[in-house]
Amino acid sequence: MTPRPFIVAIDGPAGAGKSTAARRIASRLGFALVDTGAIYRSVALAASREGIAFDDDARLGALLPRLTIRFEPLPSGGQRVLLSGEDVSSAIRTPPMSLGASAVSARPVVRAGLLELQRRLATAPENRGAVLEGRDIGTVVFPDADAKFFLTASPEVRARRRFEELRQKGDPQTYEQVLADQRKRDRDDSSRAVAPLVPAPDAQQLDTSGMDLDAVVAALAAAVEDRLSRRAGRR
Ligand code: DC
Repeated sequence: MTPRPFIVAIDGPAGAGKSTAARRIASRLGFALVDTGAIYRSVALAASREGIAFDDDARLGALLPRLTIRFEPLPSGGQRVLLSGEDVSSAIRTPPMSLGASAVSARPVVRAGLLELQRRLATAPENRGAVLEGRDIGTVVFPDADAKFFLTASPEVRARRRFEELRQKGDPQTYEQVLADQRKRDRDDSSRAVAPLVPAPDAQQLDTSGMDLDAVVAALAAAVEDRLSRRAGRR
């Protein structure tokens, strides 16, 4: 039997450095990249366009099977997010969609409905491996992942990184607004009943507050390469 692709799980709160680390590790190893936050964001976008409240379980449940969410690699190393064929990469990154994604992600009907999609995207037959970034990859989506990381950083460092990112896109939010939104999301994501943001017991934890992203990538890549060679050795 062909073993399932090698799975790297990167969890943690917003602004901890997950996206950059996940993108660079995936590109270094030639693995697929699954940005699960983008999936929740796409659901929030589709719901808001259809006037569906973020806590309307019946309508959210009916919406999910009608959506197709895919990722398409870009030559630059990043990827586009396609929602029912439309490129929504920018539309899902606005502050209202950050809060919307956090709200829909607390609904068990949404989490259950997206589980299969996340697993399918990661284990597609053409993938040698996959890097998934999110909140519950190591605890719920792939509890048996081959390498698990939980990245954190202080709230101020994370808000500063997010603020710089939004400013470069021309978003007028102040640092204080970004920090306040982030505190709300942290509280909601960590206290929800289903799949709260908690480290898996076997995740390697890394506080990236004082680290630059090259150092974060180097630390994670070294650990992944070690696991990869051990898995190859077991065959
Ligand atoms: O990583 P992000 O900021 O794009 O995620 C947006 C929201 O989606 C986040 O507030 C929590 C939710 N999310 C989740 O609950 N589980 C995941 N695996 C990924 C994201």
